This record gives sequence, C-alpha cells and structure tokens, in this order.
Amino acid sequence: MAASVATISPINVALPHNHQEDVDTTTTTILSPDLPIDFIQDPTVKAPFEAIQRLFDHLRSHPSDVDAINSAYPKRGILKTAAVLNPKSDQKFTFDLSPHRVDCLPGEAQQRLSEIITFFEAAASAYVEDLLSACSNLAGPGVDMAKAHTNRNWNFRLCDYATENIANPESDNGCGAHTDYGTFTIIFQDGTPGLEIEDPSAPTGWSLVPGDATIVLAGWCAAILSGGRIRAARHRVRRVPGVRRLSAVLFVAPDLDVKLTPLPGVKPVRPFTERISSGEEDVAWFKEVMGKRWRHREGNEDIPEGELTGSQDDDINKLVWA
Ligand SMILES: [Fe+2]
Repeated sequence: MAASVATISPINVALPHNHQEDVDTTTTTILSPDLPIDFIQDPTVKAPFEAIQRLFDHLRSHPSDVDAINSAYPKRGILKTAAVLNPKSDQKFTFDLSPHRVDCLPGEAQQRLSEIITFFEAAASAYVEDLLSACSNLAGPGVDMAKAHTNRNWNFRLCDYATENIANPESDNGCGAHTDYGTFTIIFQDGTPGLEIEDPSAPTGWSLVPGDATIVLAGWCAAILSGGRIRAARHRVRRVPGVRRLSAVLFVAPDLDVKLTPLPGVKPVRPFTERISSGEEDVAWFKEVMGKRWRHREGNEDIPEGELTGSQDDDINKLVWA
C-alpha cells in the first residue's frame, strides 16, 4: 500500500516536559504522551559502528565462529541468518545478546565483542534510569516503573541491513511493521536513514527518522503498565537496495515475573481486556506470545497457516484492549 513518508526532525518535535527536577535533560528528553517517540539529543554514548561492521564481516567469512557463538545459545542462536535463504522474511541479519548471555560466549568471541558490549553497558548506565523515571511520570503520580525493572531484562541487538548474501537484494523490506514488546527501545543508527514511525493520527502514514538520530520508542509493556498513558510506537525499516545500514538496539523490558497489568497507582485511560486487567498473565508469557510472531516475520520460526489470523499488532491489540 502506498503511504506518504515525511521526515521528522528532533528539533521540531515539541514535547511537554513534565519531568521531575532530577531528570537530566541535557542527556535525555522525555517520552511524550502525545508522540510515542523521543530523541536522545547529542548522546554522550556513541555506538561503535566500525566494530559492528567488522563483526558482521568477520562472521560472514568465518562460519565456524558463527557455530561457536550460536552454540552458546542453542535454543535460538545468536546470529540470525534467515535472510540468506528466505526472500519473504525481513532482509537483514541480527546478532542478539543479553547481559546474562555474554558470559556464556567463548573467550575469543567475548574479546571480539568487548567494544560492543562496553558500549551497550554504557548506554544502559547513561539512559535507562532516566527513561524509566520519565515513564513513571507519564504513568501518574506515585507510580514507580523502576520497581518493575530490577533484573536487567534487557537485550542487545545489532542489525545489518546488508547488500550481499541475502535472498532478495532488491527488497525494500528491512524490518516489517511492528511494535516492540517491552517498555522502551533505544535505537542507535549509523547515519543511514530507513527507520520509519507510524503516525498515530494517520495509520499507514509513515515518518522517516533522520539517519543520525538516536531514538527512543515505547513498547507494549509501557502502554499496559501505564494504563494506556504511554503510547507504543509502531515502526518499520525500509531498505534501499545496494545501501548497507547498521543499527545497535537496546531493548528494556520489565522483569519476567511482573504482572502484565497497570502498575499500582495507575488510573487507566482506556479499558483493557479481562485477561490484562485481572493481572493473570505475566511478562514472560507476553514475551513468548510476541516472540513467536516476530520470529516468524524475521524468518526464524514457522507458524502453521491456520494460526496466522492477522498482523502481530492486530492480534496484540485484540488481546490487550477491550
Ligand atoms: Fe522494533
């Protein structure tokens, strides 16, 4: 479907800064209730894109190193390469780590990744606390998002929207439209545009994020825990054939045992389904439900025909909102 794409600029995004005095706005700005995105202005922490490119290039030419790294997480693997064979999946390679998984890697891989891991840890130290505080403020007086985020349920993802070794190099599908499952996502880009945000007031209208912006997107858990006061951002990545793009993504989610329902003290602004308002499900369950669909989109897991009823967001909207 054709959609208009406008470019949004960080300096043109007017955000109501209803933050607490102790939030350092020189490093972070605040997620807005009106706009489900925000930008980190002049980030002090920069992603090491040269090291990230070297890593992907090395792995492409050293399959035995890929095997060694993937064996540290045999359930799903760490480097995802479905795009090599599947022309309909997202045409990208991803490398997924978590703070808990780094120690399982072979020593040589840990060394190769040290600059990248150091970057992710520095980014988390610099931004996670302030952004959780911003989310607390948006969720309402006395609400404490930090209490639901004590176990570093984070994921570190590297993306290579590559030009070589993919099944469909002419495809414009880098990453299909979706909403992240967690609380918020920080995306560092290498300067190449491609990330687009759906305009909440005009679904199927997409805004192109500047390629050098560091952007924060709210996810489903933020929307639920805040009683709908934080809006989750639907987004996608468009490829330009022949143009390589790299990104580094920090996903922050609530602890897996947190109940998937508005936090204590939150006054919801829209009604939830009984399944959500009763608090019978937890974040671990939600991650599994979402993960099945995102692995299908990325080409890493098949779903039987009959189980595919709509888009991931259609299914989750029905599950969450009454
Ligand atoms: Fe995403």
